[in-house]
Amino acid sequence: MDTKILTRNLHVPDLQEIGVYESLGGYRALARALKELSPDEIIETVKKSGLRGRGGAGFPTGLKWGFVPKNSGRPVYLCVNSDESEPGTFKDRLILEQDPHQLIEGTILSAYALGCRLAFLYIRGEYVRPAEIVERAIAQARDRGYLGKNILGSGFDLDIVVHRGAGAYICGEETALLESLEGRRGHPRLKPPFPASVGLYGSPTVINNVETLANIPHIVNNGADWYASIGVPGNAGTRLFGVSGHVVRRGVYELPMGTPLRELLVDHCGGVRPGRRLKAIVPGGSSTPVLTADQVDVRLDFDSIARAGSMLGSAGVIVMDDSTCMVKAALRISRFYAEESCGQCTQCREGTEWLHRILHRIEGGRGRQGDLELLLDLCANMKGRTICPLSDAAAMPIESYVQKFHAEFDAHIREQRCVIRDAPPVAT
Ligand SMILES: Cc1cc2nc3c(=O)[nH]c(=O)nc-3n(C[C@H](O)[C@H](O)[C@H](O)COP(=O)(O)O)c2cc1C
Repeated sequence: MDTKILTRNLHVPDLQEIGVYESLGGYRALARALKELSPDEIIETVKKSGLRGRGGAGFPTGLKWGFVPKNSGRPVYLCVNSDESEPGTFKDRLILEQDPHQLIEGTILSAYALGCRLAFLYIRGEYVRPAEIVERAIAQARDRGYLGKNILGSGFDLDIVVHRGAGAYICGEETALLESLEGRRGHPRLKPPFPASVGLYGSPTVINNVETLANIPHIVNNGADWYASIGVPGNAGTRLFGVSGHVVRRGVYELPMGTPLRELLVDHCGGVRPGRRLKAIVPGGSSTPVLTADQVDVRLDFDSIARAGSMLGSAGVIVMDDSTCMVKAALRISRFYAEESCGQCTQCREGTEWLHRILHRIEGGRGRQGDLELLLDLCANMKGRTICPLSDAAAMPIESYVQKFHAEFDAHIREQRCVIRDAPPVAT
């Protein structure tokens, strides 16, 4: 079975052009659905397919859509989360740049299912080229009658507005994204109420990740059973893994959910650099707890990675070999979250800053006895207590680095220097 779904056409030249996309069967799912399927039938199909959100949390997509109240008298909005701001994550960019019509068709189908007549595509400010490509593709879709009034004579109206963010990580969090869209600072909102009932402009709103929505045309075309048959039970479909760091071939790899991590790293990425040994793997973006080399046989799906003590998150896989100083890696991550905390919650605003400060002194050879206990205590106080999970996202990796590489952190403090940087490479 060919397990490439989202990337199967990426080798085709000029795929960004609507004519090329159509010649490969593009927009056929939309034409059929508008004629033959009711919105509820699409929601049922997506529920049955087992599709889970690709933005991070893995929430079942059909279930989320089912939370939108019917006939509330308020407009329903759909927001395409193209913020892609988690360090180590670059898979949505591939779709935005190379196959934008796949995403647009998925967005139109999803909007039809949700009774939405205005969708927003929120894209990070740094994605200048992807934003231009998507804007052009939306204009092409409008010219062809896939967007606008009375789409393909169905009576269904929809437009998509592209909104460029200003470069804040927090605006990828769904409620901060809504604040930003409304023209305010990206400060997350307290939940409940959840966006499905009170979202953009106080109306029912669904927020979905780019990769999630790009799957929809394929599910409508091939059916729920086909999609559910790919991957492993409870984790249907494929996943786009963005692999960076110390492997021979970095890049985005589409593989069925449940593929062993070792297969991704060795068969697809060519293993770690010659003469080096695998040391650690971040499985789902920088906020997810780190895995050690002896966990390389874990399967890459939401549930298996959770059982291994981490999260599949955004599937941004960061590979570190034995040349990596884990103190320095933790320091770099802590700096990012300290800079990106929105500052609303004390635990996050102060905690991220303290983590960074303590790691900075350990890395600089000025660590103190008790610093590791202090770091772990801080992490424990940062989790589960804030408006949004950025505080958890900052604490979880640091906690895992300190716990799993305790001896290395301890040696940095005892010897007041980096014990890794000067070590000779070990042949594999
Ligand atoms: C701090 C933070 C940053 C996030 N950044 C992103 C992001 O860049 N892109 C994304 O799709 N989801 C991001 N999320 C998850 C979104 O809040 C939301 O769960 C997701 O867009 C829902 O889409 P899905 O159900 O299709 O996964 C982030 C969450 C948090 C807490």
